[in-house]
Amino acid sequence: MGQYQQHVFVCTSGKTCPTQDSKAVFQALRSAVVDAGIKGQVRVNHSGCLGQCGHGPMVVVYPEDVWYCAVKPADAARIVSEHLQGGRPVEELRYVAPPGDNKLPLDEPLPPRA
Ligand code: FES
Repeated sequence: MGQYQQHVFVCTSGKTCPTQDSKAVFQALRSAVVDAGIKGQVRVNHSGCLGQCGHGPMVVVYPEDVWYCAVKPADAARIVSEHLQGGRPVEELRYVAPPGDNKLPLDEPLPPRA
């Protein structure tokens, strides 16, 4: 096993996610991990663009390869308790899209969550 059981990447420096409050999502996830007492097992990192611009804020959890879209700071506690601790991804926040880049033109509306 590596240094951490899971990595959570939050897009905080691409073109669109930072305009959708992704830095607050990052802080909320990091705080929720600390509050849950799992800081030694889960690493929350900033990420550059994840190639899904316009669907954000984007969050991805590895090694599960589970993606979340349109995440809000208030969603952090559920992601931590249900997914990171409970092992069950939060289905209504889940992002399912074809492999590779899925960038939306900025004038298109966001798709509904799964
Ligand atoms: S800006 Fe976040 S996925 Fe591109």
